[in-house]
Amino acid sequence: MNSKRILVTAALPYANGPVHIGHLAGCYLPADIYVRYQRAQKRDVQFICGSDEHGVPITIRAMKEGITPQQVVDKYHAIIKDSFAQMGISFDIYSRTSSTTHHATAQAFFKKLYDDGAFETRESEQYFDEEKQMFLADRYIIGTCPVCSNPNAYGDQCEKCGSTLSPEQLINPRSALSNAPLVKRLTQHWYFPLNKYEDFLKEWIVEGKKDEWKPNVYGQCKSWLDSGLQPRAMTRDSNWGVPVPIDGADGKVLYVWFDAPIGYISATKELLPQSWEQYWKDPETKLVHFIGKDNIVFHCIIFPAMLKAHGGFILPDNVPANEFLNIEGEKVSTSRNWAVWVNEYLTDFPEQQDILRYVLCANAPETKDNDFTWKEFQTRNNSELVDKFGNYVNRVMVLTHKLCGGKVPKWHPEVATEQDRTLINEIQLAKVKIETAIEGYKFRDALFELIELSRKGNVFLQEKAPWKEASGIEKGTFNDDEKIIAQQRIDNCLFVALQLTANLAILANPFLPFTAKKICSMLKVVERMLDWENAGKVDLLKIGYSMRAPELLFRKIEDSEIEAQILKLKAGLIASTVTPAAEEEKDVNKIATLKPEITIDDFTKIDLRTGTILHAEKVEKADKLLKLEIDLGFETRTILSGIALHFSPEEIIGKQVVVVANLAPRKMRGIESKGMILMAENESGKLVFVSPQEAVNNGAEVK
Ligand code: 2FM
Ligand code: ZN
Repeated sequence: MNSKRILVTAALPYANGPVHIGHLAGCYLPADIYVRYQRAQKRDVQFICGSDEHGVPITIRAMKEGITPQQVVDKYHAIIKDSFAQMGISFDIYSRTSSTTHHATAQAFFKKLYDDGAFETRESEQYFDEEKQMFLADRYIIGTCPVCSNPNAYGDQCEKCGSTLSPEQLINPRSALSNAPLVKRLTQHWYFPLNKYEDFLKEWIVEGKKDEWKPNVYGQCKSWLDSGLQPRAMTRDSNWGVPVPIDGADGKVLYVWFDAPIGYISATKELLPQSWEQYWKDPETKLVHFIGKDNIVFHCIIFPAMLKAHGGFILPDNVPANEFLNIEGEKVSTSRNWAVWVNEYLTDFPEQQDILRYVLCANAPETKDNDFTWKEFQTRNNSELVDKFGNYVNRVMVLTHKLCGGKVPKWHPEVATEQDRTLINEIQLAKVKIETAIEGYKFRDALFELIELSRKGNVFLQEKAPWKEASGIEKGTFNDDEKIIAQQRIDNCLFVALQLTANLAILANPFLPFTAKKICSMLKVVERMLDWENAGKVDLLKIGYSMRAPELLFRKIEDSEIEAQILKLKAGLIASTVTPAAEEEKDVNKIATLKPEITIDDFTKIDLRTGTILHAEKVEKADKLLKLEIDLGFETRTILSGIALHFSPEEIIGKQVVVVANLAPRKMRGIESKGMILMAENESGKLVFVSPQEAVNNGAEVK
């Protein structure tokens, strides 16, 4: 560590919705752990973030909610800022890209590149929605798929046949916003010739960062560079964003990915008006961007090329991007409301920020996509935080109050044992391991070492069993000399155990800051004790010093709390289909179009039979699937059905259903499914069974 100062940025979240736990795990939590650790090391570090308030999604949301883009960003900026603050994400500044400083900074940046002749202008025809008076891109253009004739394919992809498309390929393109047919309009934009920076980027990344950057980050950059870079438009036609600061650019704004990363610079300026340049221009500053994997190209290729073109700025030392966190086996989807929202977590689990911080770090998607499940949240809390870490600290505090009058006992070298020395050594080893892991952006490993140390503390207490010595003293089985020695052993055990407790607070502080504070309060020490230089020391708590009464650090999470969260997730998914946003999409999609005509012979090939659900259960690691046993009269079938998000197993047992009985068997999750049950979808997206109006024999033909 030889840089003079560290500048840490975390991706600026779009202010068009609250943040969810995938955001936290992806970049804000790792960044916060890193910064808290650096601060504890007393290094000169600044932690920069803010809301990304421009871009098409914000204008679309404004349109959908019938409010202005400014109202959208005002609303979500406040919600996001509050969620971060409550979660203990300790930014030095949380700014926003609608600020005047940012507009001026981004415009000056663009102007410098423009004046230096860094841009190329190009004219092109783009789709325009005359009703909404705006140019539209990709997702906001709908039309008929040239491959499969799906009338509702998007401008970038047909979700029916999976083809990747461009808006030009769609037949009869129309607006996803107004449903109006689109016209082409000529427009001019300023392109940044990324291709000219290929050599510089190759040298800097491919040659210089191979061993330093995480393999996922390096790999993505390499494949972008290998496939060749293209000029990229840095302006857009819109009235929401940073106006392009040159004559003849009315109605044009900076591309959101041009202005957003400059937001890091603007926010640093707002925070440190006098000294911001040191952080961005002095090569002795270490710049680290924490981001999610979808932002890699912007932070490793485009922004560095912009900085290079501008000149005078340093480049990032590292970009430790995380992969994605799925929820209960499925990708997070904000439009489907498949997410755990941080503001809602904070309401449902008040004062329990550290549990979420713990679970998200222990299970962080550092090297691959990972899954968050509520069950794991409960297990990790109950068996690691409560049973190991919390239990250790609580035992030490209770024992100290019981056996040493609530004061730090004396240390008696004459009765010191090998176990004492081993534990002291473990504390020092853990400190080094945690340091190395955090500095290498391996936060999971670091956290593991912390819990491991608390586990060793529990083993130490168990082996030393000071309560046994105490009961010997109480029972009067010891003579006077023995009594003295027994008390000395108790003292030594709790002396070491208390020093470990203090060390746990220091080592936990970057990860579990609320808990570290609580420990300080129990030990009645000032928070300055948490300085990293104190880690590894075993004279942190002075002999004779009296402490406060113990309080529990963590509480168990009950099954009912977990069940409630899972239900909430599923309910949100169903409700999301009737939110205004989805309704608007529905207006466009309305009723599914009819499939091509078939003959009666085609139909009679399908053998439909009635059956009764005898048994239903969840399929492990497949959150959508239920495994059903269905009585078809002539036999009982196993059928896997993707209805688990709509029904609990209990509620469907005994239902009579219609089964496609001659469907070719299919194996899923190692289970063979023989057939399919018929379902219909109601207007709010909930599935309902197609069942006979009156009970009939199982196995009856449906014709
Ligand atoms: O992906 C996102 O959420 C973007 N708003 C991140 C921007 S990061 C930076 F460049 F500002
Ligand atoms: Zn298609």
